[in-house]
Amino acid sequence: MRDLLEPIERGFEEALAEARGDADAIEKLRVRFLGRKGEVTALMKQLRTLSADERPAAGKAVNDLKVRVQTALEAAVSGAAEEGRRREVESGAIDVSLPGRRPWRGSLHPVTTVTRELERIFREMGYSVERGPEIEDDFHNFQALNIPPDHPARDDSDTFYVRGELLLRTHTSPVQIRTMEAHSPPIRMICPGRAYRHDQIDATHLPMFHQLEALVVDRGISMADLKGTLEAVWKRFFGEEVRTRLRPGYFPFVEPGCEYDISCRVCDGSGCRTCKGGGWIELGGAGMVHPAVFEAVGIDPEIWTGFAFGLGIDRIAMMRYEIEDLRLLLENDSRFLAQFPV
Ligand code: PHE
Repeated sequence: MRDLLEPIERGFEEALAEARGDADAIEKLRVRFLGRKGEVTALMKQLRTLSADERPAAGKAVNDLKVRVQTALEAAVSGAAEEGRRREVESGAIDVSLPGRRPWRGSLHPVTTVTRELERIFREMGYSVERGPEIEDDFHNFQALNIPPDHPARDDSDTFYVRGELLLRTHTSPVQIRTMEAHSPPIRMICPGRAYRHDQIDATHLPMFHQLEALVVDRGISMADLKGTLEAVWKRFFGEEVRTRLRPGYFPFVEPGCEYDISCRVCDGSGCRTCKGGGWIELGGAGMVHPAVFEAVGIDPEIWTGFAFGLGIDRIAMMRYEIEDLRLLLENDSRFLAQFPV
């Protein structure tokens, strides 16, 4: 038996030396020696022909050989894998000098970016940032803002009613009221947030949009403070060259009331598609707080005066990023959103 083992083991060792580093050749060796018709398997079968007193020692010898062959094959397989990797690196299949692939980190929505930037500008100017409910009551959204039940101004904004006196706020102005109810003057606050109107959807109208409200109440506040504040904010936001203008406008909760424009950021006032040739872009409404509003919240209009203004955040995002259709802001298409890295 021993005479049979030795040549097989030597044959295995020689073949293995040749197959080194070659996974396919090693697999062939495994079949040749340990497979169903393999050389070592054949020895196992021959044990049956031995006499009972020869069998134990021979059996052990064959089994030891089998274990040695197995161990050597396993080592050769992992050696071949290692060798394969080394060859790949050497041949340049893996260029370890390439920068790694970064996972996509996502980015902030343009409306979020604009909102945060405006918040920062107002905070630096000493304003607090307030929030109010999106489901409002008639008192805060209308009545306290000097819009009584049959006032024609209610037709300006098609309201989504929830139930009874509850509605989706049609602007962020109710947060003026809530802030004045909670704090006595002096007040300097802004409130960014969503507002809702039953509008037909198109490139410039959505039934849900974003506004930012500002309110200042103090002694001796005048229209000049309003104009100066608007100038300061837009210069910080858009750059020194931007110009601001006020036009007479009507809102029941301010008197005098106005609408305000800035020079178009796309053409700088010379006229283009974005400003429809006029050179100016309307940003929102503004004015001096109406005495009736102060009375609704128990602030004495003989002592305090104030200004308020509102602006459309989506519109500012559209202008800043030259987005032509508001609907893009809501579609969550990552090809659109990925264009606004933070
Ligand atoms: N709330 C008004 C609107 O939504 C804007 C506005 C705010 C006007 C504050 C005047 C003062 O159109």
